[in-house]
Amino acid sequence: MTPELLPLSIRGYVFACTNSSQDECFKRLLFGSSKVYGAVAMRVRKGDFLFLWNLNSDLLYGVFRAATNAQLNIVQDAWRGKYPYQVRVEPDSRIVPLKDAKKLLDSLSIERSSPVGKSKTITMLELYRPSAVPTTQWFGHLTQTEFGKGFEVSSEAKSWEIFAKVKKAEEAVEEIPRLQSTTLWDFPRQSYGSTAKGNNKYAGVTPAELIWNLVWRYTEPGDIVVDPMCGSGTTLDVCKEEGRKAFCYDIAPPHYRKDIIRNDARKIPLPDNHADLVFVDSPYGDNIRYNGDPDCIGKISSETVEFYDELEKVIKESHRILKPGKVLGWLIGDQWVMKKFTPVGFLLYARLTKYFDTVDIICIARRGQSSNTGLWNNRARRFNFYLRGFKYLFIMRKPAPNEKRTEEPRKISWTYYKR
Ligand SMILES: C[S@@+](CC[C@H](N)C(=O)[O-])C[C@H]1O[C@@H](n2cnc3c(N)ncnc32)[C@H](O)[C@@H]1O
Repeated sequence: MTPELLPLSIRGYVFACTNSSQDECFKRLLFGSSKVYGAVAMRVRKGDFLFLWNLNSDLLYGVFRAATNAQLNIVQDAWRGKYPYQVRVEPDSRIVPLKDAKKLLDSLSIERSSPVGKSKTITMLELYRPSAVPTTQWFGHLTQTEFGKGFEVSSEAKSWEIFAKVKKAEEAVEEIPRLQSTTLWDFPRQSYGSTAKGNNKYAGVTPAELIWNLVWRYTEPGDIVVDPMCGSGTTLDVCKEEGRKAFCYDIAPPHYRKDIIRNDARKIPLPDNHADLVFVDSPYGDNIRYNGDPDCIGKISSETVEFYDELEKVIKESHRILKPGKVLGWLIGDQWVMKKFTPVGFLLYARLTKYFDTVDIICIARRGQSSNTGLWNNRARRFNFYLRGFKYLFIMRKPAPNEKRTEEPRKISWTYYKR
């Protein structure tokens, strides 16, 4: 078998370890990842090729194959619970460490945050080929041999540079978002990856990466996510890909989506304490005509108290169905229309804090606004007003039943740095 004849689906993954976690990887024949690379690790499927990068020694061990699909906590107490996104591995009979792993991965533009595509995986596999074994035989062995029937780890690290001239290779990789680390999120595109999430033509559609971030921050694979006002179904599509169970509703689901349940968000048909995450991207007032349904909250002006009263009913329902300790994410923006500013975000936040504790508030850059034209930008300058540049993402937590909500001021020992 030549590399060209290898299965189309061939993929590789680089897992990392340190001097202190490496032994457990070999003894248990288990690789694991923390949440930072959890979404990538969870995409590993049985048969994928795996490599283990020791970050301290900078050695890259190979070749391994995934013996199972990735799962959460295959061995709960492995690495004292630090790396719960796990996969069982089968080693080739002789595991070889390659030297200068970082340089190698950089030269191939391979990152731990993405799966390794077919041609780069083949290049990597070729580097592990024993010099006496011809390429054809080596790939035949890798794809047909039963791995994992006893193995040894070579004590001698192999230098890859003398075996192969690795050139910077460009190859499309599956796009997997990264967890945001600050409170400013800016997503230039509505969706990511090769499949659409939601419909980017739907008025008021949510950036899929925003939902992805909430899903990975606050839930685990298998958890229940609810979106009571899900519009074109972005939450549903993200959750399907990330292995979460989603219950998604809308007052007027788009005709082309049979998987969205028609329902009024003020009465969600789920039991109490059921959901692990609720996400709401509600109307921000009556600025968008979503549908003709008389119960659409998007018909009520955000300049009226009624708007916040109706949204409070959705807040109460979200609180009821959430498990204690779990999170509600609510996206909303302010309004400026005909010379009047309405702090929709602050007014809604006041209602949210009646039921929830605040985890954090994220500023979401507004993109793809219909008012983001040269004409409107010039009007904003000439007539001294501002176009909306951001939205709020309120991340709220349902307190446990007897949890004290107001705390005494804490004593903090700040470290003051000299400027
Ligand atoms: C900003 S859009 C949601 C966009 C959605 N997240 C997406 O990505 O396509 C707000 C949605 O709230 C829905 N909605 C308005 N009033 C509702 C109600 N009473 N119950 C349920 N959904 C409602 C609208 O139909 C609209 O689809």
